[in-house]
Amino acid sequence: MSNIVKINKKIKNFKKTIIVPGDKSLSIRWVLFASLANGQSTAKNLLISEDVLATIEAVKKLGIKVKLNQNNCKIFGNGINGFKYKNNLTINAQNSGTLGRLILGLLINSPKPINLIGDKSLSKRDFKRVSDPLSKFGAKFSLTKNKFLPLKVYGSSRLKPIKYFEKKGSAQCKSSIIFAGMRTEGTTKIKAKKSRDHTELLCKHLGLPISIKKNKNFDEIKISNVKKINTLNYNIPSDISSSAFFIVLTALSKNSELTIKNININPSRIGIITILRKMGVKIFFKNLKIYKGEKKADIKVVSAKNIKAINCPPKLNSGAIDEFLVIFLVAAKAKGISYFRNLSELNQKESPRLKWAKKILTNLGVKTITTNDSIKIFGNPNLNLNKKVIIKNYLKDHRVFMTSLIAALSFGGKWTIHDKDSINTSFPSFLKIIEDLKNDQKKKYFKDKY
Ligand code: S3P
Repeated sequence: MSNIVKINKKIKNFKKTIIVPGDKSLSIRWVLFASLANGQSTAKNLLISEDVLATIEAVKKLGIKVKLNQNNCKIFGNGINGFKYKNNLTINAQNSGTLGRLILGLLINSPKPINLIGDKSLSKRDFKRVSDPLSKFGAKFSLTKNKFLPLKVYGSSRLKPIKYFEKKGSAQCKSSIIFAGMRTEGTTKIKAKKSRDHTELLCKHLGLPISIKKNKNFDEIKISNVKKINTLNYNIPSDISSSAFFIVLTALSKNSELTIKNININPSRIGIITILRKMGVKIFFKNLKIYKGEKKADIKVVSAKNIKAINCPPKLNSGAIDEFLVIFLVAAKAKGISYFRNLSELNQKESPRLKWAKKILTNLGVKTITTNDSIKIFGNPNLNLNKKVIIKNYLKDHRVFMTSLIAALSFGGKWTIHDKDSINTSFPSFLKIIEDLKNDQKKKYFKDKY
């Protein structure tokens, strides 16, 4: 089967309700917490994507029994010290930074050394950001070129609590340290720049000894020794990061309206909503609910009329970190020059995304000025494409693929987008939902005609 997608025309108007799969951050965290619990935990609506399957494989290699039936999953934890595995074990985090970084926090007291490897993209990403603070607990690490995978972790049985200042706004670093902090006698103190707080909320929900003080720019987190984790039955809400592509597609399409059901709208994840609202896009939350400490709602979005440029406040960055590529498409159609800054973390993702943003926008004929950590986008409200565009060699970054596809459907042109299978890391049903939206138009056409 071809791994290339060709798009030759814009999407027509649609009016539809869709469901996107379970949240990736919550799915990975559920697997990890369940693997440490005493007994059987159950998840519904688990995201079935390569990143989550890699997480399941990882805990299986650590001796944990897992039963998967479509997107329902049961994990049979053996308790917080219940991992059992052979000598010279290798865990493959594949493409997943979240798995690779979080699991190191679970392994710092492992009696035998463990190897951690990943795919080509993950092997270019920084692991020193977690191995440095984890070393302070007393574990040891050997990394490739001091920074990269493959790495080896040498756990210790004599760990001590640490004080850690997380300055990047990385939830992966923060979460890894929270997992490690559960292993020591005493209290680990974390001062963390704002980032998604799913790990903290799950700790709270499970009644673990965590305290969280939210300040304006930083959170202060204290985590103490954990003896036991109760089982966790979780119905995982759908993923705002997957929804983002459809929110933007709707905003950029004419006369369209979309409802996306049951989305996790944790305030630390909805930067895209705040940013797009500031740009004039109308987005509504309906059926708001609290579920196990997390907020969820249906999201309704309608076509945007006059899109305004934005000077994006950096305090919104961490809450939109996975959504910037697709947000930049909205800026491409805005009236005026948009400015996004303090975004060096974007080049630390599955591909250097600021660089890819520039490439995609240049292909659209949109002028940009980029530095290592910022981008200015010279928007064009009449943006309309006729030319050919080829997107390839982007380290199979799923979000580059999906952003390119949304650009093709929104702005026209003749697009050839390679590496379709990249979507399997986070959103295998992405193209199927796109087809459903296209068919919505066809159905209406037939209804009118016959
Ligand atoms: C994630 C944290 C973010 C995000 C990633 C998922 C998580 O990474 O980009 O897709 O689940 O903790 P950083 O912590 O590196 O910012």
